[in-house]
Amino acid sequence: MPAVGGIGPGGGKEYPGNLTPFVTVTCIVAAMGGLIFGYDIGISGGVTSMDPFLKKFFMSVYRKKHNDKTTNEYCQYDSQTLTMFTSSLYLAALLSSLVASTITRRFGRKLSMLFGGLLFLIGALINGFAQAIWMLIVGRILLGFGIGFANQSVPLYLSEMAPYKYRGALNIGFQLSITVGILVANVLNYFFAKIKGGWGWRLSLGGAMVPALIITIGSLVLPDTPNSMIERGEHEKARQQLRKVRGVEDIDEEFNDLIAASEESKKVEHPWRNLLQRKYRPHLTMAIMIPFFQQFTGINVIMFYAPVLFGSIGFKDDSALMSAVITDVVNVAATVVSIYGVDKWGRRALFLEGGAQMIICQAVVAAAIGAKFGIDGNPGDLPKWYAIVVVMFICIYVAGFAWSWGPLGWLVPSEIFPLEIRSAAQSINVSVNMLFTFFVAQIFLTMLCHMKFGLFIFFGFFVVIMTIFIYFFLPETKGIPIEEMGKVWKAHPYWSKFVENDDYGHGVELNKGAVKNV
Ligand code: BGC
Repeated sequence: MPAVGGIGPGGGKEYPGNLTPFVTVTCIVAAMGGLIFGYDIGISGGVTSMDPFLKKFFMSVYRKKHNDKTTNEYCQYDSQTLTMFTSSLYLAALLSSLVASTITRRFGRKLSMLFGGLLFLIGALINGFAQAIWMLIVGRILLGFGIGFANQSVPLYLSEMAPYKYRGALNIGFQLSITVGILVANVLNYFFAKIKGGWGWRLSLGGAMVPALIITIGSLVLPDTPNSMIERGEHEKARQQLRKVRGVEDIDEEFNDLIAASEESKKVEHPWRNLLQRKYRPHLTMAIMIPFFQQFTGINVIMFYAPVLFGSIGFKDDSALMSAVITDVVNVAATVVSIYGVDKWGRRALFLEGGAQMIICQAVVAAAIGAKFGIDGNPGDLPKWYAIVVVMFICIYVAGFAWSWGPLGWLVPSEIFPLEIRSAAQSINVSVNMLFTFFVAQIFLTMLCHMKFGLFIFFGFFVVIMTIFIYFFLPETKGIPIEEMGKVWKAHPYWSKFVENDDYGHGVELNKGAVKNV
């Protein structure tokens, strides 16, 4: 355990509970909520490179693409209108996750998931049948609303449902669905783009209805979390539910702690204002910094623009799309590694290893692209092996992200907030994530054009900072029951200054003797 890692696993308290088939199936179904987010991330880049789509909605971009004979590869695709199409969705998601906070808290996680699915479904329909640009935009906004609701509620649902020893693995099901969604979308784009008659983009956009239906139906059949039932005063139902979820009779200790957490949370009248209290400083810091850093790894440069990027380094159309699919496969496979390791090796080990791996790859890619394209962006004849080496390092970078910041960016925030601020803090997490997803999507092409290969150094610099941040400021959270998380801050060399001993009241007596390694 590293010096600043916090307290030991288990933290002195162990609730009985098994990885029952019931909880496993429930979590798999709920995790599919990530599909809508992933599908959208994957589909947009491909659709905006389909000529019939551009001709119908973005004629000026189409003309520029075909008439512009610039040899400067860095600036080929710099178009604000087009990026606005992609990134508008994230602004909508940002707003809706704030609304979702209240719904999730007052009416349960399931209702937010249902809203998420329905909004996404309507958005997909409108987009699939779009005749004019306004339909595209209205559709995108509805998709964004859907994602805001789903990303706000699904990670919380998973972390509350899971037995704490398997919480990491079950929660990462969400990220796994995101990566599968991205992969499926790119493969579909590849085939739909070939449809004669040029209406393949309608299938790509309308296809979003499938993941939307999965989460909509899923949310109707899923059980509610015991935490959420208690929060709404349904104590007896919650007790039965907890027995069923944990697969054991003896759930009293956990149940009582959930009740205590809920009592504490009822005292809170203004969850938002509450977040500003000094004792929540560690939580607020994480709710802002984790999503900010996740986006500043630069991952979405690859996810949104891989075909464009690979096109720029010399792959021709088909092989550029194929290389994008390869990075998506790596993304899925490496996420499985983190499902395997997160509850064994812990969050910090994955964060630190993944960070180091990304830094090395970013340095190599910057050097390789810089050496060939130089400042004017004209590579001359780029040997095939050279491009393959670059793609390889990009894949190693994606793997590093996929077992660290990708899944942990959703897992860690969902497990560290006490119930009284959980929903509000998770909305902040989602909003900040969406804000910077928007930011990176919107400015990447312009940045590539101006910063050239320095762009990779730019993101590499942030990965250095975030890795140091994790080392010093993020305590280990593996194997700690979610309602007992307060103790990790009290045990932390820096954050302990912010929390008094009687903060998070229900956790106090649990903390005695639970602190190790500090
Ligand atoms: C991030 C997305 C990213 C995806 C890639 C998610 O955790 O939030 O922005 O595109 O991972 O797999």
